Amino acid sequence: MGIYLDNAATSYPKPKKVLDEVYAFMNDIGASSGRGAYRKALKADRMMYETRKSICKLFKFKKTSNVIFTLNITEAINLLLNGILKEGDHVITSSLEHNSVWRTLKHLERDRGIEISTVECDKYGITDPNNIKNLIKKNTKLIVFNHASNVIGTIQPIKKIGKIAKDNNIPFIVDTAQTAGAIDIDINRDNIDILTFTGHKSLLGPMGTGGLLFNSDIEISPLKFGGTGGDSKLEYQPESIPSKYEAGTPNVAGIAGLKKGIDFLLAKGIINIRKKEKNLVDYTIKKLSEVDEVTIYGPKNSDLITNVISFNVENFRPDELVYKLDSKYNIMLRSGLHCAPSIHRVMGTIDKGAVRIGLGYFNSREDINTLIKALKSLIKNG
Ligand SMILES: Cc1ncc(COP(=O)(O)O)c(C=O)c1O
Repeated sequence: MGIYLDNAATSYPKPKKVLDEVYAFMNDIGASSGRGAYRKALKADRMMYETRKSICKLFKFKKTSNVIFTLNITEAINLLLNGILKEGDHVITSSLEHNSVWRTLKHLERDRGIEISTVECDKYGITDPNNIKNLIKKNTKLIVFNHASNVIGTIQPIKKIGKIAKDNNIPFIVDTAQTAGAIDIDINRDNIDILTFTGHKSLLGPMGTGGLLFNSDIEISPLKFGGTGGDSKLEYQPESIPSKYEAGTPNVAGIAGLKKGIDFLLAKGIINIRKKEKNLVDYTIKKLSEVDEVTIYGPKNSDLITNVISFNVENFRPDELVYKLDSKYNIMLRSGLHCAPSIHRVMGTIDKGAVRIGLGYFNSREDINTLIKALKSLIKNG
């Protein structure tokens, strides 16, 4: 099976109940949701509703119908940025964005004439929220922030940023791709107006699941138009949500699996999960720091980061190192820029990239010991 340390890309393995549920849904129910009145179709509707409820429970949110499903967080972010920003609007974002935010903004800048301001962070990925205040202008329409970097791991002060956004009447969107399911998030406590999530990382669901939670009544145009299973006589997209934003047949089987992933997390408790994962993050940092040839980027403190540790090894190109770890030792890590070039500029690794360890709930100290042994052997023998 090997040692999988790429959970920041997608989590693996998934809890068995997730796999069983996807199979059971496809085998025993198999009907689409929102489109039929026979008993199996109603069971699919019920399951979708129950999944929205589990998502609400996780993020301490009350409005079940304000949970919108998308294919992934990239689609959720595209929906929001395309649906809100108009020519002449100004948006503030972080220096740690994934391309799902960054490229979407750059396309809107080029094609729609929006204006982007980036808040600086230090070389550890730490953002001072006060720097955001200075960037706010009359035409600032949105603040969009990564909750934690997928490269350097640094957790952003979203609660404080959200407060600044609130004080200035600017909607605040958070990308929780790296934190949902790994860190406790309370949509109201953390001052989040729109929370975006992806289902296949720490939420332990299947790929092809994600979405967003509207904690605001800001006007947003849909990204897609089409069938919703209801109001079919209308020639335009219905105004009621979630239908307004959920055109086309959803990934119903995937959403069934996502529910089991979230229920697994709720049963364990996010606080306990964070404790376990922090422990492993600290252990990994300690063991990596003992290898002289290793340079770790980012804060060496699990209070400040999520489950991501990026590093390089003297005299090895990142791609060469991960190739050798995989082919010789069956250890899976990722190298490169990880779809987030701006933070590599801050880290000073834009030319060569870095190797990334993405720890997950099912990793153990044993996995890290094996990795360290393999690294030492490669450093010694090539
Ligand atoms: C911070 C962040 N945002 C967005 C994404 C995009 O996720 P998805 O491919 O599931 O849309 C990722 C995934 O790598 C990420 O780490």
